[in-house]
Amino acid sequence: PLVGTGELVARAHAAGHGVAAFNVITLEHAEAVAAGAEAAGAAAVLQVSENAVRFHGGRLGPVAAAAAAVARASSAPLALHLDHVESPELLRAAPGAGFGSVMFDASKLPYAENVAATAEAVRFGHAHGMWVEAELGRVGGKPGDPSPGRGPLDAHAPGARTDPEEAREYVAATGVDALAVAVGSSHAMTERTAALDHGLIGELRRAVPVPLVLHGSSGVPDGELRRAVASGMVKINVGTALNAALTGAVRAFLEREPRVVDPRRYLAPAREAMAETVASFLRTVSPAGGP
Ligand code: G3H
Ligand code: ZN
Repeated sequence: PLVGTGELVARAHAAGHGVAAFNVITLEHAEAVAAGAEAAGAAAVLQVSENAVRFHGGRLGPVAAAAAAVARASSAPLALHLDHVESPELLRAAPGAGFGSVMFDASKLPYAENVAATAEAVRFGHAHGMWVEAELGRVGGKPGDPSPGRGPLDAHAPGARTDPEEAREYVAATGVDALAVAVGSSHAMTERTAALDHGLIGELRRAVPVPLVLHGSSGVPDGELRRAVASGMVKINVGTALNAALTGAVRAFLEREPRVVDPRRYLAPAREAMAETVASFLRTVSPAGGP
């Protein structure tokens, strides 16, 4: 069934376990998340990023409708989330397209502008019944802060760290429902070699009242993910690992069978490979024995 991200994350937060969120680009991604969640007996989040919407010609409707239909048809609890939204127009389109939650990403802006833009996004989101995640990534981003980490820095560069005091102030000032933090992961890693700052995760958990979100989880080894969840990380975002599984399976199939033209022949094993990846992440971060 289709459920709310807020409800899944709140339950995980209270119980001290994780909930994984997977980036959906194609119909097969969504089907693989459902199949993996059913196999693992766990709940999951289907998330569509602004980049994925751009890939689909800027149209939010078709990809959202497909993901929502897959969620409704599944026996696993699946939520629909709009990820890494920078465009205010896309944010405004989210409730009408069936999204119960959104990650508004103003992390490239200086601190004060991030706060102002995010607070406005939260007002809009809450007025439309949405759960809102936002991101504070840079170290010492406030005006006048002499920290050498100041200035635009990718929130998920390996060296980026979220400051706990700034995080506390940011959550209070914006009213966000969950906070994405920089603790050592980076987006788009194809090897699972990231080392997380577990001490910082614990400090952030104590500093902010809302659940914490880990981005770039494809590059984080299983043991590190388990420790991260144990020290307070709740929503675990995975994208690249699914694409690596998909592309690896397609590549292997077409190398073996270069004359095949029916996409179903190679998309079936690709979808299967993604489903196995989904189930594996869910077994790592979700509680044993179900959602
Ligand atoms: O918001 C999406 C995630 O942060 C995905 O990151 O593709 O590196 O796993 P990843
Ligand atoms: Zn991300």
